[in-house]
Amino acid sequence: MKLSLLVGGLVALGITGLVIANDAPVETKPAEAAYLGADKCKMCHAKQHATWMKMKHSTAIESLSAEEQKKPECVKCHVTGFGKTGGFESMGKTPKMANVQCEACHNAGSLHMKSTAAEKKKTINGPGVDCRECHSPHVDGNRKKGAAEEKKEEAKPEEAKP
Ligand code: HEC
Ligand code: HEC
Ligand code: HEC
Ligand code: HEC
Repeated sequence: MKLSLLVGGLVALGITGLVIANDAPVETKPAEAAYLGADKCKMCHAKQHATWMKMKHSTAIESLSAEEQKKPECVKCHVTGFGKTGGFESMGKTPKMANVQCEACHNAGSLHMKSTAAEKKKTINGPGVDCRECHSPHVDGNRKKGAAEEKKEEAKPEEAKP
C-alpha cells in the first residue's frame, strides 16, 4: 500500500513535471557580465583608479616568475577574471587582464558599463567585497614558502603513473 502510494506519487510528480516543462517558456539564463579591464573603469572612476595604481594589486603579476605566470594555481589570485568571459587566459593572449584589477574585487563590469544611472549600483559588486577568495588568515604570508615547497615537490621523482 505504502509502496503503491509512493509509486503513484512519483508518477504524478513525473506527469506534473512534464506538464510544467511543456508549459514553461524556454528558460533564459540571466545575461552574464563580461570582464573589461581597469582602463574602462578609469573613464568614470579616475579617483579609484589612481588609488588602485598605488597598491600592489595593480602589479601583482610581477610577483610571479615567467614560469609561475603559466601556472593556473598561481595566476588565479594574481590576475582578473581567470577563466571567465573576458577575463585572463594567458600573458600571450590577455596581458591586459593580468594583475588584481577592479573587477577582481567588484566582479565583471560589462553590464554596469552599459546600465542606466539608476541601475549602476545594481549591476556591480559594491562595498561588500569579499577579500577571502584570495586572502586567508591561515595562508597569507606563506605564499613564497608554498611556492618553494611546490618546487621541491616537483623536483622529487614522480611515482610511476599507470
Ligand atoms: C560610464 C561611467 C561608468 C563606468 C565606465 C564605470 N562606472 Fe562604476 N559607477 C558609475 C556611476 C555613475 C556609479 C554611481 C552609482 C550611484 O551612486 O548610484 C558607479 C558606481 C560604482 C561602484 C559603487 C557601487 C556601489 O554599490 O556603491 C563600483 C564598485 C563601480 N562603479 C565599479 C566600476 C567598475 C569596476 C568599472 C569598470 C568595469 C566601472 N565601475 C565602470 C559609472 C561608471
Ligand atoms: C583576486 C585576488 C585578490 C582579491 C580579491 C584581493 N586581493 Fe589583496 N592581494 C592579492 C595579491 C595577489 C596581492 C599581492 C600582490 C603582490 O605583492 O604581488 C595582494 C596584496 C594585498 C595587500 C598588500 C598591498 C600593498 O600595496 O602593499 C593588501 C593590503 C590587500 N591585498 C588587501 C586586500 C583587501 C582588503 C581585499 C578585499 C577588499 C583584497 N586585498 C582582495 C590578491 C587579492
Ligand atoms: C582589492 C579589492 C578592490 C580593488 C582591486 C578595487 N576596489 Fe573598488 N572598492 C573596494 C572596496 C572594499 C570598496 C569599499 C570601500 C569603502 O567602503 O571604503 C570599494 C569601493 C569602490 C567604489 C565606491 C566609491 C568609493 O570610493 O568607496 C568605487 C566606485 C570603486 N571601488 C571602483 C573601483 C575601481 C574603478 C577599481 C579599479 C581601478 C577598484 N575599485 C579596485 C575594493 C576594491
Ligand atoms: C588563493 C590565492 C593565491 C594563490 C593561489 C597564490 N597567491 Fe600569491 N599571493 C596571494 C595574496 C593574497 C598575496 C598577498 C598577501 C600575502 O603575502 O600572502 C600574495 C602574494 C604573493 C607574493 C608576494 C608576497 C610574498 O610572499 O613575497 C608572491 C611572490 C606570490 N604571491 C607568489 C605566488 C606563487 C608562486 C603562487 C603559486 C604557487 C601563488 N602566489 C599563488 C594570493 C595567492
